[in-house]
Amino acid sequence: MAQSLAPESAPVQHWSFNGPLGHFDLAAVQRGYAVFAGVCAACHSVGAVHFSDLAGAGLSSEQIMALAATWKVPAGPDGQGQSTQRKGRPEDAFPVPYASPDAARAANNGAVPPDLSRVALVYPGGSNRILALLTGYGATDTHGRQGMHAAGFYNPYAIGHRTAMPPPLRDNAVVYADGTPATVAQEARDVTTFLAWVSSPHADSKRRLGVGVALYLCFLAILLVILKRRIWSHVAK
Ligand code: HEC
Repeated sequence: MAQSLAPESAPVQHWSFNGPLGHFDLAAVQRGYAVFAGVCAACHSVGAVHFSDLAGAGLSSEQIMALAATWKVPAGPDGQGQSTQRKGRPEDAFPVPYASPDAARAANNGAVPPDLSRVALVYPGGSNRILALLTGYGATDTHGRQGMHAAGFYNPYAIGHRTAMPPPLRDNAVVYADGTPATVAQEARDVTTFLAWVSSPHADSKRRLGVGVALYLCFLAILLVILKRRIWSHVAK
């Protein structure tokens, strides 16, 4: 039966950021940030990301300053050796929600919520499976079981069909600044887009460079053919 407990393969989605000519939908990245900040950040970090990186998602420096200040980051020990916190600044990395892995484990039935900085690259199945995982809790397994068990929550996209992560999303878990209705499906798509962007924030500029290089090489090739014909024109007759 172990065979049947391999994660189900996630339905293939259309993502704007896939393919050599793809690009990130920055409105979706920004909505996804809201979901991450409002929901996922209670348990997960994105430690490789600094607030200032959000400039790449279309935020102005004033917006980033204001956004950073809504986060609390560790500020080292005070005079009595107690750890203190201060408001975030643009140069800070996103903070870690737990003081230690032990604290994370204690709060999550023995599991440590992984850092999500690179999850869209390293998670087998990538964005399709993250989306499927986030929205895959509703179903019951072959025994009609649903919800919490000793080994975690039933989810066909998790290894062993069990995850220690409680279903994180619900309708209207966040209020979107752009007025988009915050359904579970929308939140899941947006936060997945955010995580994909976080995993490769420079993908768009690399793709643009790639297209530029390809065009340049085509131009060069045509030029060489013309030159070759000219040079050999009186010989090759
Ligand atoms: C209440 C805490 C909590 C919240 C909130 C939460 N997670 Fe998790 N998450 C966990 C834990 C714990 C795990 C590890 C699960 C395990 O090992 O079984 C996890 C694992 C994951 C994984 C890896 C899955 C795997 O199979 O290894 C992804 C991806 C993920 N979470 C994404 C998210 C996203 C996106 C959000 C916000 C929408 C979110 N999580 C909100 C606790 C949480």
